Amino acid sequence: MNGRLYQKIAPFYYAVLYLVFKLYTFILDLPIFLTYPKLAMLHVRLWIFYSFSYSSAKHEREINALGVDSMELVDGLTPYSTFAKILSDIDVPDSTVFYDLGCGHGNLVFYMNIKYGAQSIGMELVPTYVKTAQRIRDAFNMTDVSFKTGDFLDADLSNGTLFFVAGTCFNTHTQTRLISLLSHIQPGSVVISTSYPIAHHEFVLLKKIRVPFSWGMGHLFLQKKEC
Ligand SMILES: C[S@@+](CC[C@H](N)C(=O)[O-])C[C@H]1O[C@@H](n2cnc3c(N)ncnc32)[C@H](O)[C@@H]1O
Repeated sequence: MNGRLYQKIAPFYYAVLYLVFKLYTFILDLPIFLTYPKLAMLHVRLWIFYSFSYSSAKHEREINALGVDSMELVDGLTPYSTFAKILSDIDVPDSTVFYDLGCGHGNLVFYMNIKYGAQSIGMELVPTYVKTAQRIRDAFNMTDVSFKTGDFLDADLSNGTLFFVAGTCFNTHTQTRLISLLSHIQPGSVVISTSYPIAHHEFVLLKKIRVPFSWGMGHLFLQKKEC
């Protein structure tokens, strides 16, 4: 295709693709919203904030101020229905301590507490994501939900039993540090990851599925740490 024509068409193409996936994942999430009205109300609050009070210019300024490779901080959302699908075959007791490593707006942190009663912790580098999620958590009086600003690679994860990491955009250096960090979690813990499994001999792959995300179709891996 002619280069100039591509430059003109590409933004339009990606905008349409983005909207189609947004609508598709919203439809898939509808039964979950109907089952958990609290989650639906909370989701609307998040949606209103990020649609009307957080401009892309402000986002860019915030990312630049962090001084981190912006590719590592690409925003994206895992739909609730996608996460429900990967968890469908495993037992999630209410004693579960869930970590979302790079929790974005915090959607899944809220979901895990509302659906399973799990203690849920979101770790995130972007301060606005954390402040907004904390404000909404307080408005809904969710005592077992917390959000921490900072690099999850420096976190103490020793009390965690279930982890999620959407590391599709992580570079190889971050992936290596992530593997090293997760090699110290409790035996028997479960790790869910996007795009690639945790490449460590103590992790056994239990499930791999192809599912929709806000950025398109992709893979989710579920692994158990053996020892
Ligand atoms: C693709 S988003 C996923 C959001 C959420 N987990 C979900 O799936 O809906 C990845 C998030 O990880 C955050 N992130 C990337 N590297 C991080 C790090 N080292 N420490 C904390 N957060 C990080 C980014 O800012 C971004 O919000």
